[in-house]
Amino acid sequence: MSILIDLRIAAVGDIHLGEDVRGQYRRKLEGIEDRADVFMLAGDLTRHGTLEEGRVVADELRGLSIPVVAVLGNHDYHSDLQYEIAAELRDAGVIVLDDDGVVIQCGDKKLGVVGGKGFGGGYAGKCASEFGEREIKNFVSHTRYIAEAWKVALKEIVADHRVVLSHYSPIKETLEGEPPEIYPFLGSYLLAEAVDTAGADLILHGHAHKGSEKGMTPGGIRVRNVALPVLGRAYSVYCLNCEDEFHSHDSQRQAG
Ligand SMILES: [Fe+2]
Ligand SMILES: [Fe+2]
Repeated sequence: MSILIDLRIAAVGDIHLGEDVRGQYRRKLEGIEDRADVFMLAGDLTRHGTLEEGRVVADELRGLSIPVVAVLGNHDYHSDLQYEIAAELRDAGVIVLDDDGVVIQCGDKKLGVVGGKGFGGGYAGKCASEFGEREIKNFVSHTRYIAEAWKVALKEIVADHRVVLSHYSPIKETLEGEPPEIYPFLGSYLLAEAVDTAGADLILHGHAHKGSEKGMTPGGIRVRNVALPVLGRAYSVYCLNCEDEFHSHDSQRQAG
């Protein structure tokens, strides 16, 4: 009896590369094409969002033999060079999502990926709302705009499976370990609400370095915090048709 294992997704976030570690992360990706069908990066690829750091990331990811999909994180926006960094990544063959979606052919399956950086605001009952000062309204409406874009993209995509790739977290369960005071800056329930409405098989996010790996949206969609410090390894592999996840590359385990 053969066991069907399809669509293996290697994922990581918060690799925070810089010139001083050039070449090191690439070595950890050796053999990734044997373990996964696609590689997804959940933002914070650089430390301060400089073009030099962006070019290091692009070089580390260039020429991998499986599709690579990425979103940027807040660190990648820090120097206001997010579009230039995205262009460097795209030149290296990386699909960079910016509140839109893509369909990737993986063998005989079509994998739809929707996402972007996401944004904050907090979680139901303890969140910012569109009330009062213009600045607060802008903050919350930015997240609402992103959530709506993801919902539309998810509904439009025609694929066998759909994955959402974000930097900010859609739920608070995968933030466990972080101080509750900063939860509103780590994600928003609006993101989960949008994905629950449109439907998806899996949500991947980063940003919460001290958070927890596993959670679920109120609608029952699996959520995984793939921030590198949470995984403690170069990446983990998630199987869409399996309950269990592969934790490949244990040999590459890292501290903290
Ligand atoms: Fe980070
Ligand atoms: Fe971040």
